[in-house]
Amino acid sequence: MKRPAPKHRPSPRSGEPRTAPRVAPQVAEVTVTEVGARGDGIASFEDAKLFVPLTVPGDRVRVAVKEAANAKGDGLRADLLEILEPGPGRAAPPCSHFGTCGGCTLQHMEDAAYAAWKVGLVQGALARVGLGDTPLEPLSRTPPAARRRARFAALKRGRRVWLGFNERMSHRLTDLAECPVLRPGLFALVEPLRGLLLSVLPDGGGCDVIATDLEGGIDLVLVGPRSLDRAARERLVSFGEEFGVARISWQADERQPDGRGTPEPIAHRRPLAVSFAGLPVTPPPGAFLQASAEGESALVAAVLANIGEPKRVADLFAGLGTFAVPLAQRAAVHAVEGDAPALAALNKAAGALRLTTERRDLFENPLTAKELARFDAVVFDPPRAGAAAQTQALAGSKVPRVVAVSCNPATFARDARTLVDGGYVLSRVYPVDQFLWSAHAEVVGVFSRP
Ligand SMILES: C[S@@+](CC[C@H](N)C(=O)[O-])C[C@H]1O[C@@H](n2cnc3c(N)ncnc32)[C@H](O)[C@@H]1O
Repeated sequence: MKRPAPKHRPSPRSGEPRTAPRVAPQVAEVTVTEVGARGDGIASFEDAKLFVPLTVPGDRVRVAVKEAANAKGDGLRADLLEILEPGPGRAAPPCSHFGTCGGCTLQHMEDAAYAAWKVGLVQGALARVGLGDTPLEPLSRTPPAARRRARFAALKRGRRVWLGFNERMSHRLTDLAECPVLRPGLFALVEPLRGLLLSVLPDGGGCDVIATDLEGGIDLVLVGPRSLDRAARERLVSFGEEFGVARISWQADERQPDGRGTPEPIAHRRPLAVSFAGLPVTPPPGAFLQASAEGESALVAAVLANIGEPKRVADLFAGLGTFAVPLAQRAAVHAVEGDAPALAALNKAAGALRLTTERRDLFENPLTAKELARFDAVVFDPPRAGAAAQTQALAGSKVPRVVAVSCNPATFARDARTLVDGGYVLSRVYPVDQFLWSAHAEVVGVFSRP
């Protein structure tokens, strides 16, 4: 059955088609030589780079050359029509949705080649800012069925609800029948959620579902365009009871001028927690959490192994305390974060830890070199945009050691360049593959003043 293009587009993705000049479609045969940073194979076509999704190096393929690959006109994009001769690094994708679902980009690549490509993402980003010689630690891997947090999109049409991830390069939804990335407990809720949303959404309506697998059970936040009526609230409550969901909240985006409302808990049946270094913290609905426990462990281990023996540490973009809590077991920690509910949760849990907190917008108002002077180490872990302003301030500071965590190698490399230009030495980088089969890589970088 053909999947509908939703009217309400709940979760825009980075891979959306851009407005790009079109060229007449043209069928060609090309050989793929490498895989680019977004996971597409790259071939050469009429002196231009040709991006062919779902291919690996060595693939001889027939393609339909379609359009400029981006608005700047750097290269061309093609659709894969046929694999004439497979390259040596091809593998059978483990998921039946692979190729249409936008959740995964690289299931068709043999594992060793995939791992090498992930490391190459980090290496390439560093090389582009002149830091390509930085020693890289081995890649930390996250296994399948480990993702503990997912954001699904849902759409109701007539008597059917589509629920899953956006298709590749499209606003259409993949109606998930399986997902080898998610923890089984998260996937098990997909079908029951379809039943719930059938009765809660209006025809043609959609919402997002943020599902997090926590200690105590599953936490759901439904994000929709309007408020819920009483009958819908009651259905959410009975859904929680029937399927053992620990907490269900509704976030009505229309209430706020910026289109982002605050999640309102509708049913809270069981206590929820995530433990950092053995300390349970209760996340507010929708709070940031590292996507897998395995990824989080790798990031925390890299931070702790490289922080030295500081007396006072600043943890910037601290969230719920993923790094602040384990750090506070060996030093006095000042945790700075923009999200008030996350900080309140951390404060409530911190108890006897040597931990202070501060709510602050670190883009607009980064800690100054003067404020940084009281710390002998800084950890920072910004969102994908990176920490340009905070890194400028750090570059002008005397903090002896900085450990940067990032989910975006490109902004990490930009910020690393700023620190190195400010006199820091980047001694090593840890690549972490927390987002299995995606074109994302996580990074920890260790900086010190000589
Ligand atoms: C990648 S998360 C890291 C959180 C935490 N370190 C962890 O590992 O769980 C980035 C954090 O930055 C916070 N944040 C986003 N923009 C911010 C800003 N302008 N100022 C301060 N914090 C911000 C988010 O709320 C989020 O908690």
